[in-house]
Amino acid sequence: MEKLGTVFILCLLVVVMSMGHANSQESNAEKIWFKNICRGKENLIKLHFYVQDALGGPNATVWQVAEAAVTANSLTSFGQVRVLDDLITVGRNRSSEALGRAQGLITSADLSESALAMNMNFYFSAGKYNGSTLCILGRNPINENDRELSVVGGTGDFRMARGYAISNTYSYDPVANYDVLEYTVYVTVYEKSGYTGVAMI
Ligand SMILES: *[C@@H]1O[C@H](CO)[C@@H](O)[C@H](O)[C@H]1NC(C)=O
Ligand SMILES: *[C@@H]1O[C@H](CO)[C@@H](O)[C@H](O)[C@H]1NC(C)=O
Ligand SMILES: *[C@@H]1O[C@H](CO)[C@@H](O)[C@H](O)[C@H]1NC(C)=O
Repeated sequence: MEKLGTVFILCLLVVVMSMGHANSQESNAEKIWFKNICRGKENLIKLHFYVQDALGGPNATVWQVAEAAVTANSLTSFGQVRVLDDLITVGRNRSSEALGRAQGLITSADLSESALAMNMNFYFSAGKYNGSTLCILGRNPINENDRELSVVGGTGDFRMARGYAISNTYSYDPVANYDVLEYTVYVTVYEKSGYTGVAMI
């Protein structure tokens, strides 16, 4: 109740702040979305999917874009920065149903063990959350199990989302240099209230 109270007060504040901005370019669809969030209920949901991490080969989806003077001699590849656009799938098989792409930057940011600083957007282009994104940040010690990353926000159905993701390496093929990563994400979403009228704000 306390949280809903906070959201309500925030909504009121925005309503008050938006008065006097009669010429706002924000569309009615956006205003209605906002009203839905004001009136909606917060739910915690669980998502589960796999990420196809093609580190090498002709169809690699992970590419180095920068490195430090020390990277080549570092046991942890410290300073290596890579950009990725990995396929997200429902199952562990790369040919299973596609859900979207994991896009972002990963930086080797630990001098003494293999750990990445992750800055990723999970962009869903199919399934229930088609069109929505989840923003993920965090430290990823890639040789450990159950790596925990923060869900710091999102767009679409994941507006105002927060939560965490658990990442595991499901398999690694050293010949193809190909990882399959498993992600389980616990995240808040706002259940739509069903409000469809024209927003007054
Ligand atoms: C790379 O992609 C092409 C085109 O989709 C495909 O025909 C080929 O089999 C792929 N190669 C590998 C090694 O996955
Ligand atoms: C993935 O799916 C394809 C097509 O259904 C199948 O031929 C292949 O054996 C599967 N691979 C694995 C590793 O299960
Ligand atoms: C995802 O949404 C887009 C835009 O609404 C739509 O064109 C597309 O067909 C949807 N894709 C799937 C797989 O549902």
